[in-house]
Amino acid sequence: MEFKNIVFEKNGRIAVISINRPKALNALNSETLKELDLVIDMVAEEDDIYAVVLTGAGEKAFVAGADITEMKDMKVSEGRKFGILGNRVFRKLETLEKPVIAAVNGFALGGGCELSMACDIRIASTKAKFGQPEVGLGITPGFGGTQRLPRIVGMSAAKKLIFTGNVIKAEEAFRIGLVDEVVEPEKVMEEAINLANTIAMQAPIAVKYCKAAINRGMQCDIETALMGESELFGECFATEDQKEGMTAFVEKREKSFKNK
Ligand code: CAA
Repeated sequence: MEFKNIVFEKNGRIAVISINRPKALNALNSETLKELDLVIDMVAEEDDIYAVVLTGAGEKAFVAGADITEMKDMKVSEGRKFGILGNRVFRKLETLEKPVIAAVNGFALGGGCELSMACDIRIASTKAKFGQPEVGLGITPGFGGTQRLPRIVGMSAAKKLIFTGNVIKAEEAFRIGLVDEVVEPEKVMEEAINLANTIAMQAPIAVKYCKAAINRGMQCDIETALMGESELFGECFATEDQKEGMTAFVEKREKSFKNK
């Protein structure tokens, strides 16, 4: 499939999705969000993709936010519709049954920070910058920032960032737990791909269940969450890969998972 604002590549079992509007610092307009929606569906359907890396094209930005030019003259109904579109697509990414790693190579502001937070893990360049500068534009974060940021960094750190619109460096983002690793700019993709490959070597159905157990469990009470874990733990025993993983261990040989 050909996209205007997205580049999709397959590298073995890893899919690499790049937001590709470098002249606008990869700002997300409706067209790009709709393409992202399609590419996520595509990745979901390809059984031989085990992990995904999401990044921004060019040297400067991951994604510098939702497209301000497109939003500038929006009416209430249009703003709501745009917010619903972004939230729907980001939620689809968050619930994709494959792990997604954000390789944050530069600015991750507003919708860009929000996009990185809809991914499972964030690897940042030392040059990356994070923030939710929306209040300086007269709006709230609209693609999940008011909800995912406090869930990741805690309520007061999230309020501090969102109320001030402050832009923080990668090291500070690491300190507050917004990113998981900070590496030199030329190593961001390499590190993200290495991580994706390490994950792709594990039993894919088990990884899928782990993502679901964590994501669902973090949004409900501990009793329900643990029941959910037991359910998925049990389901693992219906897979060929569980038999393979444990038999290979007992037979002291290399395992070979089949995503079955
Ligand atoms: N929307 C539209 N265009 C954008 C953009 C955005 N979010 N961010 C950057 N661009 C465009 C610029 O307008 C500029 O275009 P032209 O060359 O045609 O003038 C081009 O990208 C390069 O940007 P700059 O010249 O501004 O580059 P810089 O190095 O001087 O500054 C920056 C970089 C600090 C990231 C600056 O571009 C910036 O502040 N961008 C906006 C960041 C922002 O406020 N993001 C939040 C958007 S609101 C949002 O995301 C809402 C939501 O939650 C859904």
